[in-house]
Amino acid sequence: MNDIIKAMLERRSIRKFKSDMVPKEAIDEIIKAGLYAASGRNQQAVITIAVTNKELRDKLSEANRKIGGWAEGFDPFYNAPVVLIVLADKNWPTGIYDGSLVMGNMMLAAYTLGLGSCWIHRAKQEFETDEYKKLLADLGINGDYEGIGHCVVGYPSLGQAFSKACGSRAEPCGSRAEPLRFPKAEPLVGFLRAKPLNSNTLRSETEYG
Ligand SMILES: Cc1cc2nc3c(=O)[nH]c(=O)nc-3n(C[C@H](O)[C@H](O)[C@H](O)COP(=O)(O)O)c2cc1C
Repeated sequence: MNDIIKAMLERRSIRKFKSDMVPKEAIDEIIKAGLYAASGRNQQAVITIAVTNKELRDKLSEANRKIGGWAEGFDPFYNAPVVLIVLADKNWPTGIYDGSLVMGNMMLAAYTLGLGSCWIHRAKQEFETDEYKKLLADLGINGDYEGIGHCVVGYPSLGQAFSKACGSRAEPCGSRAEPLRFPKAEPLVGFLRAKPLNSNTLRSETEYG
């Protein structure tokens, strides 16, 4: 079995994270893997917002908790320090499909870097509110975007997360936590998007502030 198929089989949703921040290089690599996903007519109508600012991360988690109807104190992001919000242009007919592929690529990329991830839903409802529309405007993102999902990322809190996650599958997950080769990074809030192109060359634009 080749490494990519092996990773596809082994990746599991992680629901218990350490609070340690993930290096910026790793976040960028995960986002890049998402940008290279196939997209309808190569329109690349998907953007990804990287949130590592704890205040904003906690605000998003709280909004998500309320939408999900969970009791106060529950963190639907499972303590993950990084939230990659995937949004798709509402006016592009394959936006939801494109965004879902981006999510899949990013979860797989996170796994291959020794990081845990999980798709957290309810981004659609979040970004229907004025508050989160304003967040997009504040980040300089113009246009009409629909929330597809949050890919939460972090270092798995091993003891529970992997064994619990593996428990739902016939095969054991095996060893996965390769040490990361990146230095620690400062928390950031930023976004990265691919531009619509007429060729097969993918270019990206990163802004962190
Ligand atoms: C569209 C979608 C929405 C999901 N939403 C959530 C969520 O809100 N919270 C959560 O803990 N897991 C969520 N998940 C993760 C699934 O529960 C998980 O992928 C599934 O149980 C299979 O487990 P695996 O990812 O380990 O294979 C979501 C997955 C998808 C594809």
